[in-house]
Amino acid sequence: MSPDQTLEPARVASGNSRKLFVKSYGCQMNVYDASRMADLLAPEGYDETTVPDDADLIILNTCHIRELASEKVFSELGKLRLLKAARQSEGKPPVRIVVAGCVAQAEGEEILRRQKAVDLVVGPQTYHRLPDLLRRVEGKPGLVDTDFPAEDKFDHLVAPSPEKTAVRGVSAFVTVQEGCDKFCSFCVVPYTRGAEVSRPVEAVLAEIKGLVAAGVREVTLIGQNVNAYHGFDAATGASASLATLIARVAALPEHVRIRYTTSHPNDMGADLIAAHSDVVALMPFLHLPVQAGSDRILAAMNRRHTARDYLDLVASIRAARPDIALSSDFITGFPGETDADFEATLALVEEVGFASAFSFKYSPRPGTPGADRSDQVPEDVKALRLAKLQVMLEDQRQAFNRATVGRVLPVLFEKPGRHAGQIAGKSPYLQAVHVEGPNVLIGRVVPVEILEAGPNSLHGRLIPGQDATGSRDWEQDIRGLDAAVVEASV
Ligand code: SAH
Ligand code: SF4
Ligand code: F3S
Repeated sequence: MSPDQTLEPARVASGNSRKLFVKSYGCQMNVYDASRMADLLAPEGYDETTVPDDADLIILNTCHIRELASEKVFSELGKLRLLKAARQSEGKPPVRIVVAGCVAQAEGEEILRRQKAVDLVVGPQTYHRLPDLLRRVEGKPGLVDTDFPAEDKFDHLVAPSPEKTAVRGVSAFVTVQEGCDKFCSFCVVPYTRGAEVSRPVEAVLAEIKGLVAAGVREVTLIGQNVNAYHGFDAATGASASLATLIARVAALPEHVRIRYTTSHPNDMGADLIAAHSDVVALMPFLHLPVQAGSDRILAAMNRRHTARDYLDLVASIRAARPDIALSSDFITGFPGETDADFEATLALVEEVGFASAFSFKYSPRPGTPGADRSDQVPEDVKALRLAKLQVMLEDQRQAFNRATVGRVLPVLFEKPGRHAGQIAGKSPYLQAVHVEGPNVLIGRVVPVEILEAGPNSLHGRLIPGQDATGSRDWEQDIRGLDAAVVEASV
């Protein structure tokens, strides 16, 4: 997911009297946290609303990854200050403003100094204290809680109600790992999220069971470095790898599709690669950021692998799962990057052939080693390289999408489409797919013949008589599906 996306969770009404507006910026971790905050505040009497204007409590769940993402928060806070003042002058109940997430962690007190309208600043590791913190700022605004506490926040969070889960959709994120010890020299995450920690296997399984009971059909196991997962497994008394966790999720009788994100190339163990061949429920899509293709720049970024290591890894993964869709993140214009270095990135992209990717201009971040370097690349050079890279990545994405035309893919339908009579879902390769079909198929995996690849989604058709086969295995395993379903339908 693009860390620059602005995401708003689905809202559920429950008859509570106070209104909560949460706006989330950044990555998958923030999307998950925003839902957990809403769950935590429901028993406190808060219902979610889609507009800030009538909210009693506004939470900005922020992202610090690039300067643009970070500065967005302060312009948003400027608008909220006016809203707060207008409410006060109209004699309406006061609105409280909370800054949460990674900017909260990084800037702390500075936020209160820059914007007096803020009542509370709370970091990603202490938001489980929100109910208490909100009581404390009731008569005395201006509190900051950005601890890295001894207690585990997951032990204090509230499970979502089945109603909330159902409204949020059939595909859900589950945080299994947090934080990062990698310290890439461009990145703020190890400072904003802290050291790597993994949730115990049983806790993850229990959360997934609850989600599935409420209608979820696909889980994405998430973490900043999800494949560094090493949660305690009560079944063995030892720590489990991500591959073991995936196997345990796949063995649940609940039968869900499984994805995971984001992975670091250095943590792609042999067991995880093998899972892409062996675990039918594990979808053939892998987001594996490489950042750059020049060994000199990879070393300067502290990535601790070479371009060749990455290419060899891709070859092993493709040997396990030939049709896997690969995705990556790229940065152009890291300090010291020359034209030749950038050409090496293009050469790597050419060699791999990505199904999708996110790419960004390098943004110097305070406190990271990259920001202190004297050999910063000029903005116009970064921008030109980014534009060139994006043309190539977009061509690859379109080519990948075109290659699925004519195939039959099991699509998990998620929501009504944009046009009447349409439904929309995701292919195993995480492509958006829409077809003409009834809403009753939402939440089900159905074989779809792909007819056309548009710029942003695939268009397909349902295969008559093939929307329920009685067997569940075909839903997950697309190897051989084309032949099996087409044969059955003629
Ligand atoms: N492993 C993480 C990466 C988080 S940041 C995860 O869970 O997704 C996502 C992407 O943002 C990185 O892969 C990198 O490509 C980009 N990024 C991070 N810091 C950046 C910076 N200072 N400038 C530009 N892009 C950056
Ligand atoms: Fe940031 Fe690197 Fe950690 Fe990813 S692996 S979160 S890019 S420091
Ligand atoms: Fe942004 Fe924090 Fe995620 S900095 S990308 S919200 S971990």
